[in-house]
Amino acid sequence: MGVSKTDSIVIVGGGAFGLSTALDLVKKGYTNVSVYEKDDHIPPRWSAANDLNKIVRAEYEDDFYTDLTIKAIDAWKTPLFAPYFHQVGFLHCVSGAAPQQATDTLNRFRASAERNSKIQPHVVPVNTEDDVRQACWQLDGPVTGWNGYLNRFDGYAHSGAALAGVYRAAQAAGVRFFLGEQNGAVDELVYVSTATAKKCAGIRTKNGRFHPASLVIVAAGAAAGRLVPQLGQNVVAKSWSVAHVHLTDEETSALRGIPVTYARDLGFFFEPDPKTNLLKMCPMGGGYINTDPKTGISYSPETLKESAFLPEADEKQLRQLLKQTLPSLADRPFVEKSLCWFADTNDSDFIIDYIPGMSDSVIVMSGDSGHGFKMFPIVGSFITDMLAAPGSQQPVARWRWKQPASQGKGDWGGDVSWRLGSSKELSEILPAKASKL
Ligand SMILES: Cc1cc2nc3c(=O)[nH]c(=O)nc-3n(C[C@H](O)[C@H](O)[C@H](O)COP(=O)(O)OP(=O)(O)OC[C@H]3O[C@@H](n4cnc5c(N)ncnc54)[C@H](O)[C@@H]3O)c2cc1C
Ligand SMILES: *[C@@H]1O[C@H](CO)[C@@H](O)[C@H](O)[C@H]1NC(C)=O
Ligand SMILES: *[C@@H]1O[C@H](CO)[C@@H](O)[C@H](O)[C@H]1NC(C)=O
Repeated sequence: MGVSKTDSIVIVGGGAFGLSTALDLVKKGYTNVSVYEKDDHIPPRWSAANDLNKIVRAEYEDDFYTDLTIKAIDAWKTPLFAPYFHQVGFLHCVSGAAPQQATDTLNRFRASAERNSKIQPHVVPVNTEDDVRQACWQLDGPVTGWNGYLNRFDGYAHSGAALAGVYRAAQAAGVRFFLGEQNGAVDELVYVSTATAKKCAGIRTKNGRFHPASLVIVAAGAAAGRLVPQLGQNVVAKSWSVAHVHLTDEETSALRGIPVTYARDLGFFFEPDPKTNLLKMCPMGGGYINTDPKTGISYSPETLKESAFLPEADEKQLRQLLKQTLPSLADRPFVEKSLCWFADTNDSDFIIDYIPGMSDSVIVMSGDSGHGFKMFPIVGSFITDMLAAPGSQQPVARWRWKQPASQGKGDWGGDVSWRLGSSKELSEILPAKASKL
């Protein structure tokens, strides 16, 4: 029963979940661990974590994830992860024009921060426009009607650089990496049947090669549904957009150390990156899906080109955010625009479990739901904990495999408490120029 420490373990995907798992497996004494990643370098361009930064905020509406993030933040402060973690604070607000739903969500986050004894001492109320400027003097826009709180317990992680750091550490610890379209891209999981059971025997890469494994872990992010069709509607490829403003050295320097600034009804931005002088922004909303009319399931696009744009409505929202906060940047061109794809579940819970009926030979690690990067230093331990747990089941009930509903829809964007608006189809928002190609 179960894999032994010398059995061959294959991880599909060298993004946040896959890299963390690879490193934790070798740290726990597993000696034959390989990662297959379709891009030819890490950080991979298809990874949702392949960009400058991600918010690391501890307060969740649900205390279960708050407690986990507190653990993750402790781990962000250890030597391997510390270079990528910046505890600059999180200025979490709504603008004066926010709909009630946004204010309600903000209030649930604030209540969560205030009921946790570790976080509470770091929370500063922000009730007026002056309080906003007190929390961050660099915000010289009107911030009309903004209110919320500043949480100095939170911050951000430099995500692409953290992936690269863990890749190097995992390689040094003996993990083998197979990268690129030929050697790294996994075409399929290979199943074999005996008279009594079915199991996954390994993977086949794009070049046609079969690689045997005692255990396959699918950590393919938004592409999970392509490799594990059994997930059905339980995992939906969804995306939000990302855009950047290019600053001068002086502008970057003036914004050094600002908190992650987030108006729930508009979006958020980060301290500019001193290496590239890019200030990263994300609008918040129900996201975009890419439903295949044949299966009714949303898959992430296979090429990056299809995602290399900023939807018009998002651009308007981000310009509004800048007008309110950093008006001197409000008319500047946006650069490095893209849609960033993640694996969404209808309750924002991860799915980390054995695929049923496969003799414990294959695990899916998915459903990051757009909030998984903050767990990067510990998410791999969720796999090793599961391997060490008695029985062949995920010990954390909420992460278990769920039987997908036979019919369903992936556009639950607006039903998720922490998001505003409903999901739209990618085909409806493609820029006019691209659709003429
Ligand atoms: C716009 C945006 C903002 C976000 N903001 C935050 C935030 O503020 N805080 C936070 O905590 N999280 C945030 N996230 C979520 C975070 O990025 C994800 O939770 C995290 O990256 C998930 O990790 P993953 O390993 O599951 O997927 P990924 O990091 O996407 O990695 C999946 C990898 O699998 C590879 N792959 C796919 N198919 C194959 C195949 N067939 N063969 C080989 N390799 C394959 C891909 O190339 C990719 O490298 C955000 C996500 C988005 C899109
Ligand atoms: C790892 O497992 C593979 C597949 O079973 C095998 O071919 C390879 O020799 C093993 N490597 C080591 C170092 O044990
Ligand atoms: C989410 O999907 C699961 C599995 O299909 C279903 O059982 C559950 O009721 C759904 N939950 C919500 C909130 O829609």
